Amino acid sequence: MSKSYKITVIRGDGIGPEIVDEAIKVLDAVSHLHDFELQYDDALMGGIAYDITGEPLPKETIEKSKNCDAILFGAIGGEQWDSLPRELRPETGLLALRKALGVYANLRPVKVYDELINASTLKPEIIKGVDLVVVRELIGGLYFGEPKGREGDKAFNTMVYTVSEVRRIAHVAFQTAMKRGKKVCSVDKANVLDVSQLWRETVEEVAKEYPEVSLSHMYVDNTAMQLIRDPKQFDVILTGNIFGDILSDEASMLSGSIGLLPSASIGDKFGLYEPIHGSAPDIAGQGIANPIATISSASMMLRHALGEEDAADCIDWAISQSLKDGFRTKDMSQYDAKEVCSTSEIGSIIANYIGNCKK
Ligand code: IPM
Ligand code: MG
Repeated sequence: MSKSYKITVIRGDGIGPEIVDEAIKVLDAVSHLHDFELQYDDALMGGIAYDITGEPLPKETIEKSKNCDAILFGAIGGEQWDSLPRELRPETGLLALRKALGVYANLRPVKVYDELINASTLKPEIIKGVDLVVVRELIGGLYFGEPKGREGDKAFNTMVYTVSEVRRIAHVAFQTAMKRGKKVCSVDKANVLDVSQLWRETVEEVAKEYPEVSLSHMYVDNTAMQLIRDPKQFDVILTGNIFGDILSDEASMLSGSIGLLPSASIGDKFGLYEPIHGSAPDIAGQGIANPIATISSASMMLRHALGEEDAADCIDWAISQSLKDGFRTKDMSQYDAKEVCSTSEIGSIIANYIGNCKK
């Protein structure tokens, strides 16, 4: 065995453990074939971490996440933890991990699989061929800005960005665009917000270093509309934390199921790979969750963190092949399904296709 990588695995809450298990099944199949080894180390985060240790992000998880080649994460959250004070909530654990790792860039690619063209609520001609990526700033903006808090009958959060924070995420967007369609659309609310004016000026500056990339600016409200009206106009969407959170959920619906879309959260040192969907506690434990978003996140992990491009291509191919052949989890069962499969059946089917991958 030539290479060995250490992966910290955070299964989390709800459907998290089920979908991560399937990603590992596929990773094992592909690593075997491509002659590298993956060593997994489990870590706790979210509601389960609170239940076991009293905090949503134990120190040990931060340690393990800083001492590995990449982190694979499922999902966190659930009703039983909703009434906890904010600092103990599962989501606070995730935000604190992103911050501790400095993963400032969240890449959320949205691709429409031809096989699922009827799965979207939008017309096929609007979505056929959609291939865009949302580059969302992840550890600044309204989520983290100070001051924040409550005073009597008032509550407040602050949207703050510094030039250096905007600069580094803008570089990620332009570099991403260079490898794709060479178009960046920077999304802000510069007609109203000072922070967006600074964002826009800074993005303009960074753009000068990428003369091949065409840059446009769009207000966030218009972007929400354009994503539905004509999503094919977008290549790379560059935006801040809260706008990116909202627009990426919206964009995910172009593909028909939020259960399909992966994400990579990367910084200068670390990378956290996770599906964009949540923990779906209402369907947890029933074996009906769609593991494709997590399997696809595992592919992003191989590509971005480990440089195992061929293995990543192989996973992507196996996913689309399984869809082509009509295997569907319940969320997609009404769209040209030949067979409706459980979470673990889909994982096994994709893992089996790996063996037929040409690379
Ligand atoms: C996401 C999620 C998180 C976010 C939540 C769970 C804190 O919605 O990854 O998009 O808002 O960033
Ligand atoms: Mg979100």
